[in-house]
Amino acid sequence: MYKNILIAVDGSELSTKAAQHGAELASKLGAGLTLFHVVPPLPSFDNMSPDRVGNIHQDIVNEFIKQGREILSLTEEKLAGYGLNVSTGITVGHPAEEICKKVEAGGFDLLVMGSRGLGQIKGYLMGSVSNRVCRHANCPVLIVR
Ligand SMILES: Nc1ncnc2c1ncn2[C@@H]1O[C@H](COP(=O)(O)OP(=O)(O)O)[C@@H](O)[C@H]1O
Ligand SMILES: [Mg+2]
Repeated sequence: MYKNILIAVDGSELSTKAAQHGAELASKLGAGLTLFHVVPPLPSFDNMSPDRVGNIHQDIVNEFIKQGREILSLTEEKLAGYGLNVSTGITVGHPAEEICKKVEAGGFDLLVMGSRGLGQIKGYLMGSVSNRVCRHANCPVLIVR
């Protein structure tokens, strides 16, 4: 069955639950497991003069990448009990788009994610990332809720 499982993590409770679910599957099936995080792009400061923006834009992106790495290692720690060899990946871009690209580039045959994430707007069954990804990913998608 599944040989290569990708888990999309944003640090939310549901993405951690998705990671644990994926890890259990991976250990039962002897599949590979990869945790993936996407740092969303910042709004551009094109309308500000470069000498006022300086390196601030890149500094903020770097801070988000650092935070993303922490999210990945915290999630990985929570999977320690499964005795798996976990890989991690991080990129900057639009989360839904990058997750779908990762599925194809990495040849994953199952994607596991949460139904909701860190978003503030409650009341919807699915968040915008899970909604887009489950319509566009070219592998089966397991939504944990
Ligand atoms: N930036 C991200 N990087 C990786 N996975 C993400 C990211 N954002 C969301 N996800 C995945 O999508 C799931 C649903 O999140 P999302 O659709 O953003 O809902 P919400 O609107 O509640 O934040 C999360 O549980 C996580 O698995
Ligand atoms: Mg979100």
